[in-house]
Amino acid sequence: DRVGSTNDEALRWSDEGAADFSLVIAEEQTKGRGRFERRWVTRPGSALAFSLILQPTPEERTRLTLFAPLCGLALRDTLETQLGLQAEIKWPNDVLQDRRKTAGILVEANWSGEKMSGIVLGIGVNVSHGSIPPAEFQQFPATCLEEHSSQSVDRYQLLQGILNSIADWRVELGAPAFFEAWQRYLAFKGEPVRIEDSQKTSIIGRVKGIDTRGHL
Ligand code: BTN
Repeated sequence: DRVGSTNDEALRWSDEGAADFSLVIAEEQTKGRGRFERRWVTRPGSALAFSLILQPTPEERTRLTLFAPLCGLALRDTLETQLGLQAEIKWPNDVLQDRRKTAGILVEANWSGEKMSGIVLGIGVNVSHGSIPPAEFQQFPATCLEEHSSQSVDRYQLLQGILNSIADWRVELGAPAFFEAWQRYLAFKGEPVRIEDSQKTSIIGRVKGIDTRGHL
């Protein structure tokens, strides 16, 4: 019902040898985490918040950075199939609907020394209005699925679709079809953008696409 963060719980499970495709899911997170240690709020009944543990094969270990876009593709496909939505993927790993964020992805690898005990795919989806964080916590404009879908969203059906799609895309990880789809659904293509990183000088440019290493 309630955990600190499903990612933290999943990292603990993977320390204990959790099997590939083990799932941690919670109605509420009290210490949900986003990228760069930002806060991610999950209120009961309004969102999907889960973490999937994978045990990558040796080949997948050479492509770990592609697991975040893999989640983006799985989310995008499921939103189209189940709700008829045309979502886009904001590089590197947000899912947008009409240029506002509906889902965030936090992929973490669990290392003990040289040995990896698994990776954790953490996914948070804003389903109903109660999931949208207050404006002061929004790093990027946010929205929720029910604002864009004419039908109500069954969270467990959505979860099932996303998990199936993750399994499907996993087979294509790093294949031409993977990059083609990522490119096709990339947000802000051809548009001028500013990339801000608190550690570095920001970059202003035009989005051309993704290269074969997954760089923007
Ligand atoms: C981001 O947009 O910065 C990533 C957000 C990731 C949130 C999900 S919710 C499930 C999982 N548990 C967490 O603590 N974070 C991820």
